[in-house]
Amino acid sequence: MAIRRVFITGGAGFIGRWVVAQCLEQGDQVAVYDNLQAGSMDHLLDFAGAIDFYEADILDWEALLTAMEEVRPAVVFHLAALHFIPYCNAHPQETLRVNVEGTYNVLEAAARVGVRTTVVASSGAIYPSVEGLIPETLPPAPVDIYGLSKLLAEQVAEQFARTTEMACVSARLFNTYGPFETNPHLIPHIIASLQQGPMVELGNIHTRRDYIYVEDVARLLVALGERVTKGYEVVNVGTGEEYSAADIVEILQELMGQPIEIRIDPSRVRKVDKLHQQADITRLYKLTGMRPEVSLREGLARLLQHEGLPVRS
Ligand SMILES: NC(=O)c1ccc[n+]([C@@H]2O[C@H](COP(=O)([O-])OP(=O)(O)OC[C@H]3O[C@@H](n4cnc5c(N)ncnc54)[C@H](O)[C@@H]3O)[C@@H](O)[C@H]2O)c1
Repeated sequence: MAIRRVFITGGAGFIGRWVVAQCLEQGDQVAVYDNLQAGSMDHLLDFAGAIDFYEADILDWEALLTAMEEVRPAVVFHLAALHFIPYCNAHPQETLRVNVEGTYNVLEAAARVGVRTTVVASSGAIYPSVEGLIPETLPPAPVDIYGLSKLLAEQVAEQFARTTEMACVSARLFNTYGPFETNPHLIPHIIASLQQGPMVELGNIHTRRDYIYVEDVARLLVALGERVTKGYEVVNVGTGEEYSAADIVEILQELMGQPIEIRIDPSRVRKVDKLHQQADITRLYKLTGMRPEVSLREGLARLLQHEGLPVRS
């Protein structure tokens, strides 16, 4: 089989790092394009010498087009974005520029060099809070600038799929966790607290989210890049299960074999928060023939091990 070239924007970030690993494992030739705003070369140390790296911004059109022309990939995974919600709320114009205009640039450059499929990382953040499984057909209702930017980026992707030969996928990722996370989301915050001792300060402990292990996300994104070869698809990438922060602490207590105290910190309570978030993954299975394989318990155990914290066998 011919070696496939792939181009990964945001490949030095958390999820990108695992997409790089997955692509290399299956024999792809990998180019990463990242401005290292949140990502780090440390994430790519394991792959030194095996990938091409472009340190540049997706808003730098000349640099992006030049890189895309040099690589001439078959598949693009577009993960570069601003996505830490407090940062996005404080920087709305920058968020729209990077997440919407930046996505336009990536798609335009990809279409110009004849890319077959571009997979764009969207987010479960575009959905309203509803109880039960969320299908892709649920009308979007983003509550913040980040969710809005992701919805607009999806619409840009849909437009490219309609007007060019390139297939586009908007992959609505749900809460992804695992080693090398760059943003201080809930699980990294809990792990960082446990590094100090068996106590964690939390805000909204009963809101529930669909947590998916990062290697599952990478496998599923790569499968979407392979299987979707024409048109436009929008697809949830989650597990179909939801857990609260309190559930996560309980699983960690069991794994570590010691009680963990929860203290409520009012400064961590989000004023606007969704109560539920649970992906319907029927379409994901139809498109890829795959489902996530790593349970929350197993994923948390792997994360504890990676962070050097004790796991009771
Ligand atoms: N982590 C999650 O739970 C989650 C959930 C839903 C969607 N997503 C989406 O998945 C993608 C990857 O998320 P992540 O968690 O790996 O985030 P991340 O911040 O670790 O990765 C984003 C990468 O993009 C790079 N980047 C940012 N702005 C850039 C720019 N202007 N030009 C070039 N590179 C730039 C950063 O340096 C970083 O390496 C993002 O699009 C995010 O919105 C993530």
